[in-house]
Amino acid sequence: MPERPPDTLRQKLVSLANESLSKSDPYGWFDRLYSQAEGDTSQVPWAKLTTHPYLQDWLEKFPPQGNNRPALIIGCGLGDDAETLAKVGYKVTAFDVSPTAIAWCKERFPNSSVDYLVADAFALEPSWREAFDFVFECRTIQALPLNVRSIIIEAIASTAAPGGTLLVISRIRDTEDEPDNGPPWAVSNQEFAQFQQLGFQETRRDLFEDSDRAVTEVRLEMRKLNN
Ligand SMILES: C[S@@+](CC[C@H](N)C(=O)[O-])C[C@H]1O[C@@H](n2cnc3c(N)ncnc32)[C@H](O)[C@@H]1O
Repeated sequence: MPERPPDTLRQKLVSLANESLSKSDPYGWFDRLYSQAEGDTSQVPWAKLTTHPYLQDWLEKFPPQGNNRPALIIGCGLGDDAETLAKVGYKVTAFDVSPTAIAWCKERFPNSSVDYLVADAFALEPSWREAFDFVFECRTIQALPLNVRSIIIEAIASTAAPGGTLLVISRIRDTEDEPDNGPPWAVSNQEFAQFQQLGFQETRRDLFEDSDRAVTEVRLEMRKLNN
């Protein structure tokens, strides 16, 4: 979610999100935000236009063997992380619920090997079940409200193949109390623990403190245990 968007952009995001949430629609606002940006990436608060730095750092420290193995990018936004994972050799499928975001990815990366798709994490293709050796989720769980959190976590978990790796980048909170305001709504330890209940073993956890923003972020690497 936004690193430190200008107040007006933040206000717009909150107002779009609140309107959706008041209609019990937890994610309809994303496409409206992308669409109202009218091709101007500065109007997408989370857009970095480059690899997320914690993904880049992970790739440098622990270079994976892509070897054309299938990878899935959850809520891929404008596509930079998907492109990076394709460059390290994965056969990447990247999806987002926003048709505008997916059209934007295709426009930004016309010669990409990434398969960009419009899809809803809450209604995934049955054929994606346990189909991916590498699953990457960056800032989507935190962008969805707490009342759908266990559903999104279960959906993400379902896509990793036995023995596969799941890498999550997210804000984390140090209490189980509900966060006051969002989006984003930082994820709690108990919420993350659901991945273990779903058959994952945590293999690495790195915390990143940002005292300026009073935010802690986590990079969680997990391995799906064999059935
Ligand atoms: C905060 S943005 C992060 C985008 C990207 N992962 C990044 O880090 O730049 C969250 C993304 O999740 C997408 N999203 C939200 N709900 C979704 C859903 N149900 N299925 C698929 N994508 C979803 C949004 O459209 C948005 O692109």
